[in-house]
Amino acid sequence: MMTPITATESILQRVDDAIRHGGDSIAVMDRIAALLHESIPHYTWVGFYLLEGDMLTLGPYRGKPSPHTRIPLNQGICGAAASQQRTVIVADVNADPRYLACSIETRSEIVVPILFDGICLGEIDIDSDQPDAFGASDQSLLEAIAERMAPKMRT
Ligand code: SME
Repeated sequence: MMTPITATESILQRVDDAIRHGGDSIAVMDRIAALLHESIPHYTWVGFYLLEGDMLTLGPYRGKPSPHTRIPLNQGICGAAASQQRTVIVADVNADPRYLACSIETRSEIVVPILFDGICLGEIDIDSDQPDAFGASDQSLLEAIAERMAPKMRT
């Protein structure tokens, strides 16, 4: 279920293309959300949250509409990843008291903060309908995307 290395390299090339030629940061996030959602079968919901003050605000996404368009930093898996400035992987969302449900089908989640100069600008949030869907290859792919996106989001 984890993403193979060759797929990772090809996705990163397409992310780099999107960052170079894809327009402003919102347009680039939209392209990356679409790319990840279309390319990786276990990525059921893919979205960006932007940190505005102490509130995470939903940006471009692919998947069903989420009721969580604004998440305070002290709530959810999303709030945990942004406030702790580290990737959070939850293998079983129903066993994690922090979890804010987006869809009853969601079984596992990964949230990767987008950091620039030690400041969290936002995050990439992925939900899967498969349990324990996320591993080290997903983490390294998404952290590489977050690192590439950070300078784009700052400008
Ligand atoms: N599950 C997230 C909320 C966002 S939805 O998954 C899109 C959380 O617990 O923070």
